[in-house]
Amino acid sequence: MNPPEAAAPPAPITIHSYLTPGDERTLADDVLDGLTRPFKELPPKHLYDTVGAELFDRICELPEYYPTRTERAILVAESARIAQATRASEVVELGPGTAEKTRVLLGALAAAGTLERYIPVDVTEAMVVRVADELTTTFDGVEVHGIVGDFERHLQHVPPPGDGPRIVAFLGGTIGNFTPGARRRFLRSLARLLRPGVDHLLLGTDLVKDPAILEAAYNDAAGVTAQFNRNALHVLNRELGGDFDVDAFEHHAFFDREHEWIEMRLRATRRMTVTLAALDLRVEFAPREELRTEISAKFTPERLAGDLAAAGLELEQVLTDDDGLFALSLSTPAAR
Ligand code: SAH
Ligand code: AVI
Repeated sequence: MNPPEAAAPPAPITIHSYLTPGDERTLADDVLDGLTRPFKELPPKHLYDTVGAELFDRICELPEYYPTRTERAILVAESARIAQATRASEVVELGPGTAEKTRVLLGALAAAGTLERYIPVDVTEAMVVRVADELTTTFDGVEVHGIVGDFERHLQHVPPPGDGPRIVAFLGGTIGNFTPGARRRFLRSLARLLRPGVDHLLLGTDLVKDPAILEAAYNDAAGVTAQFNRNALHVLNRELGGDFDVDAFEHHAFFDREHEWIEMRLRATRRMTVTLAALDLRVEFAPREELRTEISAKFTPERLAGDLAAAGLELEQVLTDDDGLFALSLSTPAAR
């Protein structure tokens, strides 16, 4: 007689995609809106097709780009304490990319014996699939529930929290890629994923510093950031039948001292008429006209505390490096 069958273990990986081929990243709408304004602009999420995601990985290794290695060092130093303070059994991560730094935090939660589930949410499907495979191999018994989607539109698909505490992690300073009003709105939507006093937001923010350090980080000598920036035009050519002469646009990144943010732009080197066949759209560029592709806001302690408070979040801890380059903060929703 055969022994009774053991109950099947829970599937370690589930991945749901909420991007339909037609509305992928809402590119068409964003281009129609952004390229017909008096000051041309594209939302930064379109920088991250598969090529863009790889270029961003190369940026993270550049000597000038300090945020990644600094945030990683803070996580290495503080993850055991974060694990103790939160006792988290699950981590929801927005825009994990390769989740390279997240592994440090997950390792500390696994070592503390609390980690059960990891929920990455990213627009780049290849990243979610890769991260799910790698992390279920590294962390035996941990479930991965991947969400391929836009974190501005698909947060309702994040499953409700399990029995244990949750961390929502938003690392890398990506919160700085929102404009100030959208940033507060977005933080409020993150607060809704958290239970007061039980769950935490772990937020990475790049800090205001010497403009020379900031401008070098976005104007690397090897030109990788320039390639990352121009890749947005390759995305438009491929996805929307565009005929941008990509090499005719210069990378331009500078620190706006009034707003305390980096602006990344593409500057037309000559007069151009660009056609986007899929939109039946012609766009004129005057010589030296610029298209903004990203802002990257830098934070003071006051800006961080103000934004969190406006989103109904109580700041519990701010962890930074010795040089004050970058901050990781832990906050929880104020009692409702
Ligand atoms: N957290 C990583 C990667 C930051 S790069 C780090 O700290 O290094 C920004 C990441 O956010 C990319 O993986 C990109 O694909 C993702 N992303 C950007 N806009 C997004 C959006 N609107 N919805 C979901 N993911 C987004
Ligand atoms: C993802 N984000 C936080 C990066 C930043 O620094 O704003 C994207 C980036 N843009 C140019 N270099 C890196």
